[in-house]
Amino acid sequence: MSKRKFHGAIIECAQGDIADQPDMEAIVNAANASLKSGGGVTGAIHRAAGPALEQECRKLAPLFPGQAVISSAHHLPNRYVIHCLGPIYRVDEPSEQLLALCYRNALQLAEDNGIQSIAFPAISTGVFGYPPTAAAKIACMTVLDVLPHLATVHHVRFVLFSLDDLRIYEQTLDESIKN
Ligand code: APR
Repeated sequence: MSKRKFHGAIIECAQGDIADQPDMEAIVNAANASLKSGGGVTGAIHRAAGPALEQECRKLAPLFPGQAVISSAHHLPNRYVIHCLGPIYRVDEPSEQLLALCYRNALQLAEDNGIQSIAFPAISTGVFGYPPTAAAKIACMTVLDVLPHLATVHHVRFVLFSLDDLRIYEQTLDESIKN
């Protein structure tokens, strides 16, 4: 786990499972539009949370790309799950803006709910096909842009599944902080 300080907040990158972040108040789900269980991140979150999560999510669906909604975390060790629908990768602007919007909306929702710590997976970089380097840049730039304007959120963690992705996020975060 590598830790950086930014405007009084902690931003860190860690390799691991998003469903196993017991010290974070909220975790973010890389959801599908119907907020049902699936593969990857959303499968891990729904398996750990139990069927009550899917039941609660029914009334929050459908989700549009870039949107974020909040639910309780049920059997997960966190208080909340913030569900984001990332964009399917396209080589043009809209997917970039929509991916940034996921991070922006999730952080705002965290702030609105008085959440202090939030863990993000690499939204859209699995089934939705976003290249990890481009996704890391958007994730880091957006978090660095939004964080100074938030009063309650002071701890952000990027949770990466693979060592390769961890290295990409660490390097991108360092470069983004310098710029
Ligand atoms: N913890 C952390 N990261 C994970 C985990 C996990 N348990 N499982 C997978 N990942 C990583 C993947 O390796 C990828 O880098 O998270 C990233 C996002 O992958 P996906 O879960 O496939 O999310 P996304 O690309 O946003 O696609 C969402 O996938 O499972 C379906 O129903 C879901 O339609 C939705 C789509």
